[in-house]
Amino acid sequence: MTASRPAPPDRPAPRDVRLPSHEAAIPGSALRAIAERHGTPTYVYDARAIDAGARRWIEATGDPSRVCFAAKANSNLSVLARLESLGVGVEVATPGELARARRAGFPAERIVLGGVPKSAEAVRHGAREGVGLLVLQSGHEVEAAIAVARETPGGVLKVGVRVRPGIRAGAHPSLETGRADAKFGFAPDEVPAVWGALSGAPGLRPTTLAVHLGSGLQDLAPYGEALALLLRLAAGLASKGAAVEEIDIGGGLGVDYAGGADPEPADLVGRVASAVGPRGPRIRFEPGRSIVARAGILLTRVLYRRERDGSPALVCDAGYTDFARYALYGGQHRILPVSGAESGEPTVEVLGPTCESGDALGTGRRLHAVGPGDLLQVRDTGAYGFVMASNYNSRPRPAEVLVDGDEVRIVRERERIEDLWRGEEVP
Ligand code: LLP
Repeated sequence: MTASRPAPPDRPAPRDVRLPSHEAAIPGSALRAIAERHGTPTYVYDARAIDAGARRWIEATGDPSRVCFAAKANSNLSVLARLESLGVGVEVATPGELARARRAGFPAERIVLGGVPKSAEAVRHGAREGVGLLVLQSGHEVEAAIAVARETPGGVLKVGVRVRPGIRAGAHPSLETGRADAKFGFAPDEVPAVWGALSGAPGLRPTTLAVHLGSGLQDLAPYGEALALLLRLAAGLASKGAAVEEIDIGGGLGVDYAGGADPEPADLVGRVASAVGPRGPRIRFEPGRSIVARAGILLTRVLYRRERDGSPALVCDAGYTDFARYALYGGQHRILPVSGAESGEPTVEVLGPTCESGDALGTGRRLHAVGPGDLLQVRDTGAYGFVMASNYNSRPRPAEVLVDGDEVRIVRERERIEDLWRGEEVP
């Protein structure tokens, strides 16, 4: 659209078009006002959609302590604090995420330091912070946990063992983390010895078998397969007198980025509950994407338009340094004008402003009426959006805004140019 043409009317209030409750419902007029006030690119989160995303899990499990939000999906302090207030736990991967979770108000016992590769220092740090569960996934982490427990007599640290089930699941090869050749976790046949070493270590209490299959799963069958394996492992351990108190099934439940219906947490929880039975181990879930993805919108302004091989392309002020999912995984998120109205054939490319040819937000879009100065919304960007932004080309990272009904709050300032050289000095 050019400046001389009137803006198309907004769609009806998005709640009226029956968006899922966990999807951002922020009218075009509000998005325009946010862009005017705070600039672009800006991540905009709908607080009520975040709550709804978490409530789907809380209602499905009937117990918020079984739900640990994976902070890697979105670790903004205001988002974490919002989730904390709903009573869920949080899964953190690093001392940095742990510090964010603590700062957002999570008590240490509601924090799981998860089963990603960790330095001995990170294991030590988690133990000293008193996390509720420390998931170990390599021999080196097991040694570090045994050492730190020995150095701190008197306490008992609950530990889990991450299993690599040898199952291929995930929306892209980079998102398959349970494959036999993945770098995560112990092979099933290693688990009894690891569990034995942990049981014999003073100050450690192995409680949990953990798994994370991969991300973006639309199909629940792999969860059933993984669970069956973990239940077999638990039965094997029980036959030697060791009790597995808990199974942590990880995250991974996908969303439909094309805008269709998402897989339902209740279906997964129901399936897991019937496989485990009433007397089986307690089950913990670590959802990231399925709680926050749909609650976020990346607002970007079109810088200009050009033809590439006869097909139009829009060059925007947000690119893959702000939102990496298309460049990294070919993730095609819906990209719409803020009015919501699409136009023409699906042939428009949406490109970013950096010096890389592969810098794009999406391809094949119906955005023919869009032109320089217009605003676009990249939908479902509340997970793995801002957290994966970089400063490549010395571009300040975007601002983050939280909308709660009529209240609009900036929850992270846009980085300033001076922030880019923090810690550096001119010699
Ligand atoms: N638990 C563990 C141990 C994990 O490693 C992950 C994600 C989760 C839970 C949460 O998974 P979710 O429910 O969000 O699928 N950057 C990628 C996603 C990488 C996820 C890595 N681990 C993306 O943009 O798709």
